Amino acid sequence: MSLCIVILAAGQGTRMYSDKPKVLHNLAGKPLLAHVLQTAELIKHRELFVVYGHGGELVPEEMGEQPVTWIKQEEQLGTGHAVQQVLPHIPDVDDVLILYGDIPLITHGTLEALIKSSKETGFSLLTTFLDDPRGYGRIIRNANENITAIIEEKDATEEQRLLCEVNTGFMSIKAELLKRWVSLLKNENKQNEYYLTDIVSMAAKDNVAITPVIAESDVEVRGINNRNQLAEAERYYQLVQAHHLMHHGVGLSDPARFDLRGELEVGRDNEIDINVVIEGRVKLGNNVTIGANCYIKDTIIADNVHVLPNTMIDNAIIGNGCRIGPFARIRPDTTLAEEVHIGNFVELKKTDISKGSKVNHLTYLGDTHVGSGTNIGAGTITCNYDGANKHKTIIGDNVFVGSDVQLIAPVKVNDGATIAAGATITKDVAENELAISRTDQKSIANWKRPLKK
Ligand code: UD1
Ligand code: CA
Repeated sequence: MSLCIVILAAGQGTRMYSDKPKVLHNLAGKPLLAHVLQTAELIKHRELFVVYGHGGELVPEEMGEQPVTWIKQEEQLGTGHAVQQVLPHIPDVDDVLILYGDIPLITHGTLEALIKSSKETGFSLLTTFLDDPRGYGRIIRNANENITAIIEEKDATEEQRLLCEVNTGFMSIKAELLKRWVSLLKNENKQNEYYLTDIVSMAAKDNVAITPVIAESDVEVRGINNRNQLAEAERYYQLVQAHHLMHHGVGLSDPARFDLRGELEVGRDNEIDINVVIEGRVKLGNNVTIGANCYIKDTIIADNVHVLPNTMIDNAIIGNGCRIGPFARIRPDTTLAEEVHIGNFVELKKTDISKGSKVNHLTYLGDTHVGSGTNIGAGTITCNYDGANKHKTIIGDNVFVGSDVQLIAPVKVNDGATIAAGATITKDVAENELAISRTDQKSIANWKRPLKK
């Protein structure tokens, strides 16, 4: 006998008003369904099934390789109908744990408690008490406090709607019982759906007691049905992550204005100012400061690095003691060695810069190598694209590139060379040479400017 976990994820999510299936909407940069799956995988000795349907193959495709059996629910006729699609794959002797793809914050501990409780009677149900129970199925108990039914809000009477104990949707049940009752479901209700929740009154009729488990915090059982609820869950999740980071020594100027959509590995004495977004996998060394409004994705940053406000870094490696920004854009495949300075309005792409070089103002370097101790003047542009292909620019050590220079790639500027301001460089520059390409300055004395008519 083993455990089968069934995750219901076939619904459209009408209340999201979106073409995307609801379970693919992101929470902290990851689909809702991925959160549920991740928690489900913490449970040992189980088989995983995901019921998908709305949006066709989009859900399994977007989720990629997963250790689950995908079961398609061709038409979304309700939660009971969704479960019915999986039952032929589940042996009678197994236990079944039902999870919802739109309830992402459920914790491993609560699920273990639910599984354990179902051993008593064969059926346990997770409920919670909400100040505002709107939208949830209400739990009906008899005079002995036993659960006898779940009534969906749309089918509930005024009086039933006042009940604050709600169905979270999570249940653990013997497959044999589940199969018996699901086969008897009818869709005679306001939504003409086969409600899984109707098996509760069937259990009561068959004298199978339901063991209630009450969720410790209502946050973990909140369903995401609309964008407001998604945003609320996001803020909650972000705050939990922020406090976790602060607990490990990261200085956050304001935990409410920090977003981590992925994984952040940190050293000691990192300071992060407000409105910083971290995506993918980011690693920070020690004594790193990140200024306000920065976006950093899939990047490794070494020690003593200062990222100044309004900087974007994507897929880069940043060496010790670098200073980047404000207003810099570091694009993928960029590597900065130690003590490189990148200033405002500088864009780098597929560029590696060696120790101590400076690119301080208004510059684009793409497909470029810069040696060490080199200074790139304001307004330098590597013309790396000829309209069809990309070409490389190689700049050596201790080079001085004056302001407003275009380097027409492929081109090489050797060590110690100097490029005069305003030059357009189309040919390689030899070591220690000065390259200059300018039209001579003319002077016309006593020049009369035109007068306004
Ligand atoms: C459901 C419960 C309600 C509970 C609430 C908790 C039923 C009838 N109602 O209501 O008692 O309080 O969850 O959040 O079960 N799904 C399918 N196939 C379908 C329909 C839905 O896979 O045909 C999936 C959805 O993708 C979703 C889950 O089942 O992940 C719940 O469906 P939803 O329509 O959101 O149900 P609620 O109205 O929230
Ligand atoms: Ca729901």
